[in-house]
Amino acid sequence: MDIQMLDEIYKNAREWIEIAGNNIRSKINQPLTVDTKSNPNDLVTTMDKETEAFFVTKIKETYPNHFIIGEEGFGDNLASLDGTVWIIDPIDGTMNFVHQKRNFAISIGVYHDRIGEIGMVYDVMNDVLYHAKRGQGAYKNDTKLSALKKDVVLEKTIFAMNHFWLCPNRLVDEITMQKFVRYIRGTRAYGSAALDLAYIAEGITDGYLSLGLEPWDIAAGMVIVNEVGGVVTDIDGEPLDLLSKHHVFACNPAIQGEVIGILKEGRK
Ligand code: IPD
Ligand code: CA
Ligand code: CA
Repeated sequence: MDIQMLDEIYKNAREWIEIAGNNIRSKINQPLTVDTKSNPNDLVTTMDKETEAFFVTKIKETYPNHFIIGEEGFGDNLASLDGTVWIIDPIDGTMNFVHQKRNFAISIGVYHDRIGEIGMVYDVMNDVLYHAKRGQGAYKNDTKLSALKKDVVLEKTIFAMNHFWLCPNRLVDEITMQKFVRYIRGTRAYGSAALDLAYIAEGITDGYLSLGLEPWDIAAGMVIVNEVGGVVTDIDGEPLDLLSKHHVFACNPAIQGEVIGILKEGRK
């Protein structure tokens, strides 16, 4: 994709995220209609749908030949990432949005012929935009994020994880997970995959381990993490395609091999 086109898409994506974020903030205290999807804890609100519909309308009006993968189904049904594809999670962290009215993000990744070109993760209530263009570094608002430190040791890291690691469908046995969480310095659970990836890029966490993430949870964050030298793979260190669900391991590469080795000891 030529640079001018990329810049134009970037500018539009940023402008539309701002409009969508303002809209969410202005209605944050209004009553919500909350429905459930795959299970009673998989929430969706009218705001998730309204926000995705807004992006889809803008993209289709402006770029009729672009494709869209969106969580709430307003986009296209795609079998490949050929061409220009916008991958959208209108509200990542819907449970936080419903229960806390904070700690959620709008996540938009733009891919061209399978390559991540643009990533934007907008922490709506804090008005913080993490953004990156491939090859041009990552930013938190106007501040360029530093490359990840090379001298990180696993014993001194913080990992974001979710409670699914404790559930019976886990991939790694509990003894290994207990050993792992005791070995590292600490764990966190933020409840938004997009923000979890942005925090790795910012260098305030060192790893993120999450079961069963969808393409829209990670598409934007992957571009941002890659720009500071981080890696986003499955839990065996294999590359991710953005057409299916994955167990995700994002981290500073300094600790990648060691963690994969530890988790392998407990793989079922
Ligand atoms: C969820 C969040 C959460 C992750 C879940 C996702 P949603 O996205 O990213 O952190 O643990 O797996 O489904 O449903 O709030 O968009
Ligand atoms: Ca999500
Ligand atoms: Ca969502």
